[in-house]
Amino acid sequence: MVAQDHDYVEDPAPGRGRLPARAWFASSLPAVNLDGGWRFRLAAGLHDLSGGFEGTDFDDSGWAELEVPSCWQLAGYGAPAYTNVTYPFPVDPPRVPDANPTGEYRLRFGVPDGFPVPRAVLRFDGVDSCFAVWLNGVRLGDGKGSRLPAEFDVSGTLRPGRNVLAVRVHQWSAGSYLEDQDMWWLSGIFRPVRIVARGLEDFFVHADFDPGSGRGTLAVQTTSPARLSVPGLGLAEADPAGPHVIEDVEPWSDERPRLYAGEIAAGDERIAVRIGFRSVAVAEGVLTVNGVPILLRGVNRHEWDPRRGRTLSGETMLADVLTMKRHNVNAVRTSHYPPDPRFLDLCDRYGLWVIDECDLETHGFAFEGWRGNPSDDPAWREAYLDRAARMVERDKNHPCVIAWSLGNEAGTGANFAAMAAWIRERDGSRLIHYEGDHENCSYADVYSRMYAGVPEVAAIGHRQESGTAGPAYDAHRRGLPFLLCEYAHAMGNGPGGLRDYQELFEAHPRLAGGFVWEWIDHGIARTSADGTPYYAYGGDFGEEVHDGNFVIDGLVFPDRTPSPGLLEFKKVVEPVRISVDPRARTIGVRNLHHTRDTGYLRWSWLLEEDGDPLGRGDLAVPVARAGAGTSAGWPQEVTRLAGEAGGGELWLTITAVLGDAESWAPAGHEVAWAQERIDEPGARPAARAPGGAAPTAPAAMAPSVHEDRITLGPAQFDGRTGTLTSLGGLDLDGPRLDLWRAPIDNDKPLVASWQRAGLDRLHHKLLGVEAGRAGLSVRTRVGAAGTGLGFDVVYQWRAEPDRVWLTVAVRPRDSWDVPLPRLGVALSLGGQEGELEWFGLGPGEAYRDSQSAVRVGRYRRTLARLQTPYVRPQENGNRRAVRWARLTRPDGAVLSILGDPVVDLTARPWSTAALASARHTCDLRPDGRIHLHVDVAHQGLGSASCGPPVPAWYTLAAGPASFTIGLAAGGPDAGTMLRSV
Ligand code: GAL
Repeated sequence: MVAQDHDYVEDPAPGRGRLPARAWFASSLPAVNLDGGWRFRLAAGLHDLSGGFEGTDFDDSGWAELEVPSCWQLAGYGAPAYTNVTYPFPVDPPRVPDANPTGEYRLRFGVPDGFPVPRAVLRFDGVDSCFAVWLNGVRLGDGKGSRLPAEFDVSGTLRPGRNVLAVRVHQWSAGSYLEDQDMWWLSGIFRPVRIVARGLEDFFVHADFDPGSGRGTLAVQTTSPARLSVPGLGLAEADPAGPHVIEDVEPWSDERPRLYAGEIAAGDERIAVRIGFRSVAVAEGVLTVNGVPILLRGVNRHEWDPRRGRTLSGETMLADVLTMKRHNVNAVRTSHYPPDPRFLDLCDRYGLWVIDECDLETHGFAFEGWRGNPSDDPAWREAYLDRAARMVERDKNHPCVIAWSLGNEAGTGANFAAMAAWIRERDGSRLIHYEGDHENCSYADVYSRMYAGVPEVAAIGHRQESGTAGPAYDAHRRGLPFLLCEYAHAMGNGPGGLRDYQELFEAHPRLAGGFVWEWIDHGIARTSADGTPYYAYGGDFGEEVHDGNFVIDGLVFPDRTPSPGLLEFKKVVEPVRISVDPRARTIGVRNLHHTRDTGYLRWSWLLEEDGDPLGRGDLAVPVARAGAGTSAGWPQEVTRLAGEAGGGELWLTITAVLGDAESWAPAGHEVAWAQERIDEPGARPAARAPGGAAPTAPAAMAPSVHEDRITLGPAQFDGRTGTLTSLGGLDLDGPRLDLWRAPIDNDKPLVASWQRAGLDRLHHKLLGVEAGRAGLSVRTRVGAAGTGLGFDVVYQWRAEPDRVWLTVAVRPRDSWDVPLPRLGVALSLGGQEGELEWFGLGPGEAYRDSQSAVRVGRYRRTLARLQTPYVRPQENGNRRAVRWARLTRPDGAVLSILGDPVVDLTARPWSTAALASARHTCDLRPDGRIHLHVDVAHQGLGSASCGPPVPAWYTLAAGPASFTIGLAAGGPDAGTMLRSV
């Protein structure tokens, strides 16, 4: 075989022999499904190909079988590789390495009797990254554009009966330079393959909505004569072109995804259409749909399955859509490529706004100062235009798509201008988005940014941002709506600070909302040598260059379990805001929907005292129109029960759930809620054990000293070290000052200075132990090897018969310019299993800048269930505002922790050091002790793994501090013991 046969691999041109791009639709004409087992061989490169492999009589009997669609690296061939920005090959466009894994695929298939062989099309929905195709030995052509369809006319080549299809797929091609998205490099025929009978070539549904009159205008352009029937619109066998003006249509939106089912008839062919009327516009700098401003509560979605990579089943796509809808997500940016087209059908049907993004990123050129960037090189113009056209043509009939995104992180250049111009000409009904154009917005219709900090977004909301790079564009950009196409980097534990952004989005009409980065952790399911399942990330496959766990940054875990970040998002963006006013005894409701009134919600109340339910019931709340507010008095019953309560903390919780089932969730699904303390408005919680009294002025007990042992009430101390050794017979180690946490991904900018200061390796030096009438005082100095920085720490103990109280006074020596990870004490006891019961915020974990989703209550969790299994282990599991907690070991031993008034509490069966050094969840093994962290403050989570630093208002600055906690040990019924005090 001569080299020229393979010129297409390194040719920037998008392909040869492909049919023009067109809409993806389901027709009644027959189709042959070619998915299933194909013969497969992985060649090492162009030098290693099987000569004549395309021939019908080629002997492939020795080849393996590979399931199509699939990513071959996840089926045992080659290995996945992860890079964010870096091209995993020398940057020498359009050349690619000689070591270019090449999949040779062959399929023998039958065409059923009666199939219209003379008029047929072979369709590939996705092949990564470049391929050539032969049918019955005849070369049909080649294509690039991994996440875009390619079709070939097989009218003259397809035979009745038996056929042989041969496809050669190259891992690297010129196209790879345009596909440098932050994701795994995976290859193969990864989306379905079909042969479809050729009927109507294409159609374009224009369904415009006039908000003023409520009129819809429908015009369907068809490439050949056809008839259109839409019973719901009174159209029967009509001329599709119309235009058909329909009075009073129901427009399509995320809140009411009204689709009119219809049919296009062309000869014998019937094509099902789902028509959604809507109008997207920018009005006075505000993003509107159907005449009303909309707020995007969005996520960035990559296609990911932990076992199959970018090959997704219909069920998986549906799971994403349902999980999004159930968590108040209303928008998706299809980062960074057009998704499997079936996903857009689901968005139409269930109601999600979509920014459809082109398969285009050249981020690796940023390292070269964008020198040689294809975006401004005429040699690549055709490829850019081809990608734009293939996206727009494929997806143009989806009402969910409100904006076309030209791509991601590909710099700027004439090829983008050309794409924008082409799209505008072809489809003026949607906006054009491209974040890379944010300096001037010279081709975009929205001002889009990623990871801008809160102060900057506020300035943009006020239209007081700094000027454009090109002054001529300033007025233009200032007149555009703004969105954060990426914000809140959900890598590992986080993001924090969602609420700050949401408040701005809701306050400034110019701000159209944003898209959290990102939906799912792209972890790859693996099993450790001892059979423990875990998720792998970059670097786990021997990659030459890689970006580690930067690919693990989603709101759902790889198995699609919602992370605490998603629960936080759900609460922060809830479409209905509820407030409780304990003085006026009213419930306030703000309806943030653009269209829907609140009539679909069912309301209820729950009153609890110290976490014990006192009563619950339904609540009548007047219906609030979209954008309006309403209020209701709270029921008499609440007032009565509150009056009869026993003096504990009274919390009123109001919930709004679906009154009837919706397509995306059953009746009773919770949409919004609020909780307020109603006994003493604004009161701080008092530390109380269950049924016990607050720790006010207990009678002091004096310590007694016997040689090296000091006894103080139920506690024993080692006089030589000043540490608590046992409490009520329970052996303990600690508590000691604790300032360290296993760094979270979002701690990235701080970790080096934390380690320099030695916060992860503190030495505790005893300065003195004093036993006095009021208790025991232990003075220490805490610092790390090699640094003069440190803290003076005094532990002041006092006792009651069944418990001890510890006041820790911390004073930094010298001045610290680094925030602290945490401020609290750590202690441990023997064991590795147990159950924690607590009264405080829960049930999930919470941190100071991510605590909207938790509510005050009484909760129980086993030690195992207190852990959040972040794919790369890191700080997690903190329970916040804990008034009291009781840890019960399987042997019945109990340790109670009391706040004064509250503490943050973490319990885990491994140490912080083990958590910090583990690379994967399977590395974590219980070490025989239960490690408790009792804290009064934490550094916020933030989003700084890819975003601004944690803002000052969530920063834990080092300064003098003092806090008190209580500890009690008891038998199985510690509650009784505590109550008897
Ligand atoms: C953005 C990029 C995303 C992702 C993210 C960090 O710059 O568009 O693809 O890399 O940063 O996770």
